Amino acid sequence: MTKDKGRDIAPARGKLGVLLPGMGAVATTFIAGVEAIRTGLSRPIGSLTQMGTVRLGKRTDNRSPLIKEFVPIARLEDIVFGGWDIYEDNAYVAARKAGVLHAEHLDALKGFLQTVKPWPAVFDPAYVKKLSGENVKKGKNKRDLADQLSADIERFRKEEGLARMVMVWCGSTEVYRQAGEVHSTIEKFERGLAESHPDILPSMVYAYAAIKAGIPYANGAPNLSADIPALIDLARKTGSPIGGKDFKTGQTLMKTILAPGFKARLLGMDGWYSTNILGNRDGEVLDDPESFKTKEVSKLGVLEHILQPHLYPDLYGKIHHVVRINYYPPRGDNKEGWDNIDIFGWMGYPMQIKVDFLCRDSILAAPIVLDLALFFDLAGRAGMSGIQEWLSFYFKSPMTAPGLYPEHDLFIQLMKLKNTLRHLRGEDLITHLGLEYYD
Ligand SMILES: NC(=O)c1ccc[n+]([C@@H]2O[C@H](COP(=O)([O-])OP(=O)(O)OC[C@H]3O[C@@H](n4cnc5c(N)ncnc54)[C@H](O)[C@@H]3O)[C@@H](O)[C@H]2O)c1
Repeated sequence: MTKDKGRDIAPARGKLGVLLPGMGAVATTFIAGVEAIRTGLSRPIGSLTQMGTVRLGKRTDNRSPLIKEFVPIARLEDIVFGGWDIYEDNAYVAARKAGVLHAEHLDALKGFLQTVKPWPAVFDPAYVKKLSGENVKKGKNKRDLADQLSADIERFRKEEGLARMVMVWCGSTEVYRQAGEVHSTIEKFERGLAESHPDILPSMVYAYAAIKAGIPYANGAPNLSADIPALIDLARKTGSPIGGKDFKTGQTLMKTILAPGFKARLLGMDGWYSTNILGNRDGEVLDDPESFKTKEVSKLGVLEHILQPHLYPDLYGKIHHVVRINYYPPRGDNKEGWDNIDIFGWMGYPMQIKVDFLCRDSILAAPIVLDLALFFDLAGRAGMSGIQEWLSFYFKSPMTAPGLYPEHDLFIQLMKLKNTLRHLRGEDLITHLGLEYYD
């Protein structure tokens, strides 16, 4: 195979501002973790950009550099945090309330975390029913609110002397909305902002402010946010890489690890029952049926796309897929996710698999936020705009081009991600054909 030259990638020089709408459990665990790594208190476990390698060339070549040495990834030392929340709590207070990290870690990082203070948010309780806070912007209309966000972003850029920025939505899950007329073109969307159209959600106002300024935007929640034609088109015009939706962390991570295995062995499936108990604020927000609906849609799509019942009707044509989330305060952020999977094998004999994952939601999500911030920044410097499907690896409900079904299989997603890195550097793509070893 001939090598192409790879892409021109601007160097990761200068400071990178990471903008976080929503500074709750996930965002503060991410911020604390980055500072813990920078000060030698911790290691970047779970992060592909920090610990992952990429194989280059043949298996016999023994070339497997660290990803961060293969492509120009921003250094952790160059990251500066900024963000918004409806509560005034600084990152130390918010992290303590979130109850994810132990006092021993928080006390060691207290001085730094106290310096990270959220700016007033664009928020309306109509879209996240269970929350109310005082640190909220007032504006004439949604256009005015978007302008206020842009002013925050510019002030942050100047005050911190930033070379680049990237935004990762870590805010609460908003109520369910489908894309409609007001989301169809940027002209209609901007008119809708000026008229405060009810179908323009706060997360869309943030996404608009970022994309308009050419800032990469990744959405960690399942609400539509940038996944509307108006903002997808705008991103192509402004050169902003975008992606989402919904960090792939606990139960869905397990689903996209296990389901490809059953499919590979052509084991049939009658049903998959998933239930969760969790007691953090995210759990409380998801206790509202309208926010849960947004999450449910995000979680349900996974099996359908991995198992492809239209191609395998005898094996996957009649699956009962159920997803439940129960708010149960005693567990805090330490979620318990149970899965009961009813499969069948040779001659139709039934079998069952039970998975009980005692996970920590924000511990699983934090390295995803880091990788998304760094890979989206890389994409921007490599001139890649619009939807970044190669980063589907990180999402429960990946954005794709219109009419294209999303790839959910974690292993295909990882191959796609690493091949994209090879492509960026003009290295041979790895197909795993391997015939050359036997010629
Ligand atoms: N933790 C995980 O494993 C995981 C996985 C996938 C997705 N998510 C999603 O990530 C998001 C964050 O999760 P979390 O556990 O940190 O929740 P959290 O409730 O601890 O934090 C969310 C924060 O967003 C703030 N917020 C809500 N609306 C806002 C707005 N319009 N502007 C600014 N701030 C706003 C809230 O005040 C809160 O502090 C949620 O949407 C969640 O569904 C989390």
